[in-house]
Amino acid sequence: MWLAILVVCVFLVLVLLKYVFSTPEPNPFAVDTREPVKPIVFDKKEKKKVLKQGFVESRVPENLDAVIVGSGIGGLGLAVLLAKAGKKVLVLEQHSRAGGCCHTFTEKGFEFDVGIHYIGDLLEHKPFRCMLDQMTNGQLQWVPLDNPFDQVVLGPPEDRRVYPIYSGRNRFPDELKRCFPGEEKAIDEYMRLIKKAGKGLWLLAFLKIYPLPLAKFLVYTGLANRLSFFFKMASRSLTDVVNELTENKDLRAVFAYLFGTYGNIPKDTSFSMHSLLVRHYWNGAWYPKGGASEIAYHMIPIVEKAGGAVLVRAPVNRILFNEANEACGVSVMKGQEEVHIHAPMVISNAGIFNTYQKLLPQELQAMPAIQEQLSMMKNGEGGLSIFLGLNGTKEELGLNAQNYWVFAENNYDELVEAYANGEREESARKVPLLFLASPSAKDPTWEERSPGKSTLSLVSFAKYEWFEEWKDEKVTNRGPDYKDLKQTFINTALDVVMDVLPKITRDKIEFVDAGTPITNTYYIGAPKGEIYGADHGIGRFSAKLNAIIRPQTPLKNLYLTGQDIFVCGFAGALAGALTCGSVILKRNLHLDAIDLAKKIKLIKVKDE
Ligand SMILES: Cc1cc2nc3c(=O)[nH]c(=O)nc-3n(C[C@H](O)[C@H](O)[C@H](O)COP(=O)(O)OP(=O)(O)OC[C@H]3O[C@@H](n4cnc5c(N)ncnc54)[C@H](O)[C@@H]3O)c2cc1C
Ligand SMILES: *[C@@H]1O[C@H](CO)[C@@H](O)[C@H](O)[C@H]1NC(C)=O
Repeated sequence: MWLAILVVCVFLVLVLLKYVFSTPEPNPFAVDTREPVKPIVFDKKEKKKVLKQGFVESRVPENLDAVIVGSGIGGLGLAVLLAKAGKKVLVLEQHSRAGGCCHTFTEKGFEFDVGIHYIGDLLEHKPFRCMLDQMTNGQLQWVPLDNPFDQVVLGPPEDRRVYPIYSGRNRFPDELKRCFPGEEKAIDEYMRLIKKAGKGLWLLAFLKIYPLPLAKFLVYTGLANRLSFFFKMASRSLTDVVNELTENKDLRAVFAYLFGTYGNIPKDTSFSMHSLLVRHYWNGAWYPKGGASEIAYHMIPIVEKAGGAVLVRAPVNRILFNEANEACGVSVMKGQEEVHIHAPMVISNAGIFNTYQKLLPQELQAMPAIQEQLSMMKNGEGGLSIFLGLNGTKEELGLNAQNYWVFAENNYDELVEAYANGEREESARKVPLLFLASPSAKDPTWEERSPGKSTLSLVSFAKYEWFEEWKDEKVTNRGPDYKDLKQTFINTALDVVMDVLPKITRDKIEFVDAGTPITNTYYIGAPKGEIYGADHGIGRFSAKLNAIIRPQTPLKNLYLTGQDIFVCGFAGALAGALTCGSVILKRNLHLDAIDLAKKIKLIKVKDE
């Protein structure tokens, strides 16, 4: 017995030593690369030159170090990290513009964002902010939302309760206590658990970065759960935890309202996942100045400077493998032709399902190690987005830099289950949860870009199956039945909008359209119209899954990045990129980013 333990320990030490002594590549966060802020470019033609560089063979750089499939923040962020370490990288995007969920589009003169409403954790000099500043050479700026930044709206119009959510570690609970007198104990205990669940979060990245045998050792000995309260709490549902804290149903609902940011109902949510989101917005929320397209716009030049390129209208139809089953490039569809691009390393930002089920040859897809990974993950919930272009300024329309989370009642589990299991036309008339936000009101440059106009974006969930029958029809012409169904959802949502934001009336609406799960399939490549990639249910947060679902795949030279290998959200997908970059560059980039943040802060303090 002891001998066996000794052998295992020696083995683990050897694995660790191999890791420690393998030569790391250059540190992308070695020096502060921020430059003075240049004026924001509003000219659409100028931006197009960066964001919409169409794929042609002549634009593919020679002697690539890596090819990345997909230009979401998981793909583009990784490209920047590799470029900063001196690598020549090609990013290939199927859509007509770069950015994935960070792209924007314009209809009837209104610019809309897709998947960026508010991002947390961006206090200056904190590691996450420092990292993003470095990854955009200091050009991307962030504007804080109002405080309160969220409003939780519960109940029908005649019995509506509104709870403002404030940022600030003390202010957040203090304001809740004001709304819920007598519930001080429950609120303090909630805060304590949220804080505690964050302890041991480092292990999430550790399990994915360090060698698999070591990760498995930590999982199978139970050490992972013991070392990390994050994993220990992971198997508890959000419903269980909040129900234990209080009998007050509105307070339970306010504790749980952020479930919309990852898409699982509270009884299927891991308390640990929820705690990540609460902490993410703890110090407030921010919006990218100039709109979401600024993100990719300031990242692409860094990739290009290192000799790489970001090309769009470049749908990858398969990954290429050599005889030893090592990834060696990709095939891109140019019209009806396949163009082959070779590189010693292929990284996919297209999500685990697209990568394994669409881009691998049958015999590799059938490998037990690939099947094991697929069996651990599920497709996430489909998304529904409604875009409104409005005639009027934010003052005229009563819009502000806050989000409204509107729920038909406080019993989320039952509400959302009834909606999802309901008959499609019936559900379309009773959407029980709706996120409302005005991107234009959050952006101080908007008034200059689109004087006298405003936008409003609404987000909810919808079943892929409700729309599947139209998936093969042309995206701009899917027939009257599809239009009717969309219109039913729109009408239901507009009733809510006009009730919550009474200055918005029908005559102010110049443009309205809805994006359904099949719209997501077309524009962001989500195979089942997923809003946040793979499902984030309780099962996703076991230590075992997090050791196995990692940047390395069972196939040599093929890696995964983005939300599916970490968690969803802009920050989650970027953490996926950092984790993947750590494996490729053989160094812990999470720690590198923290180190640079500390240095910059020190210099700043000295300057003052
Ligand atoms: C409506 C909505 C609202 C959201 N709101 C917020 C928010 O307020 N705050 C927040 O933090 N997060 C938000 N999110 C989530 C966040 O945007 C995502 O989790 C994150 O951006 C995902 O990044 P990613 O790089 O992993 O994937 P994606 O951005 O989805 O990128 C994947 C890319 O791969 C491309 N691709 C797929 N297949 C191929 C192929 N075969 N060939 C070439 N390219 C391919 C796709 O076109 C896509 O561009 C929201 C998401 C949505 C949809
Ligand atoms: C916008 O509103 C103004 C008055 O508030 C009106 O004069 C104008 O015609 C409207 N524009 C459109 C396109 O509806």
